Amino acid sequence: MKKKLIQDLLVVENKILSEKYFILHLQSPTPLPEILPGQFVQIEVKDSKNTFLRRPLSIHDVDYKTNTLKLMVQVLGEGTKKLSLTKQGEYLSLVYPLGNSFSINDNEKALLIGGGCGIAPLLYLARHMNDKGIKVTVLIGGASQSDILEADEYRKYGEVYITTFDASLGEKGLVTQHSIFNAPTFDFTRIYCCGPEPMMKALARIAREKGIDCEVSLENMMACGIGACLCCVVETQDGNKCTCTEGPVYEFKYLKGW
Ligand SMILES: Cc1cc2nc3c(=O)[nH]c(=O)nc-3n(C[C@H](O)[C@H](O)[C@H](O)COP(=O)(O)OP(=O)(O)OC[C@H]3O[C@@H](n4cnc5c(N)ncnc54)[C@H](O)[C@@H]3O)c2cc1C
Ligand code: FES
Repeated sequence: MKKKLIQDLLVVENKILSEKYFILHLQSPTPLPEILPGQFVQIEVKDSKNTFLRRPLSIHDVDYKTNTLKLMVQVLGEGTKKLSLTKQGEYLSLVYPLGNSFSINDNEKALLIGGGCGIAPLLYLARHMNDKGIKVTVLIGGASQSDILEADEYRKYGEVYITTFDASLGEKGLVTQHSIFNAPTFDFTRIYCCGPEPMMKALARIAREKGIDCEVSLENMMACGIGACLCCVVETQDGNKCTCTEGPVYEFKYLKGW
């Protein structure tokens, strides 16, 4: 197992996207360790009585030249609310890089699908694939236009399609209802997705029908983050596995009941 760092990172920027979403841009004082697409950090929430456990967040993007990484965050409860108030110049304590990563094959025709903030780990994946000359298509879904985050960043790496439930942007409906799935040109070899579990289960069903691979990034609740408390366990074909150490990315067929 590769070494994990516990490190204070400098907040270079806290980009507020809306009341609900923000992006933390963090700089390491030392060269970044190798970070793979799909890996996550456990971040400390300072000065908060109720959030003494670190919070897991996907690594959104990485820049080895500046030793910086980004985290895209949705404000959900006290921990993420507190993090949203972080100011430039402060330091945040991270344990990273954690977890496994998405699989990448050279001849992949990749369809990356994110629901809301579930799109977070897919930017670094898109960048990584682009560097390897792999064609990427991205489908982003959200309840409304305000839940479609940073679409232009993803456009740097491939075509981007959008669905919103209220039809405020892109096609109306859920990501699974997008016309791309019925297009005669559909020739993807693998879906990579992250978002609400019902969305990922529905995408897994589509992948099964089409006979293609589908990797899902689970966002199970976590506490210790090191395989000790068993609160993130998921049932697989090989028995129970801790998502914090053996996940968060799984081929859907490996998960029981998917
Ligand atoms: C591997 C991994 C990667 C993640 N990546 C991201 C990311 O890139 N961006 C991001 O915004 N979030 C991500 N999450 C989810 C994030 O960790 C939680 O939203 C966060 O811990 C909530 O903390 P909080 O203190 O704000 O809310 P809490 O006060 O802990 O919880 C508020 C409410 O949200 C529910 N909740 C908390 N965590 C989760 C969860 N994981 N799934 C569903 N419901 C939950 C609680 O039950 C409660 O009802 C990720 C989770 C995992 C496991
Ligand atoms: S979070 Fe404790 S075992 Fe995974």
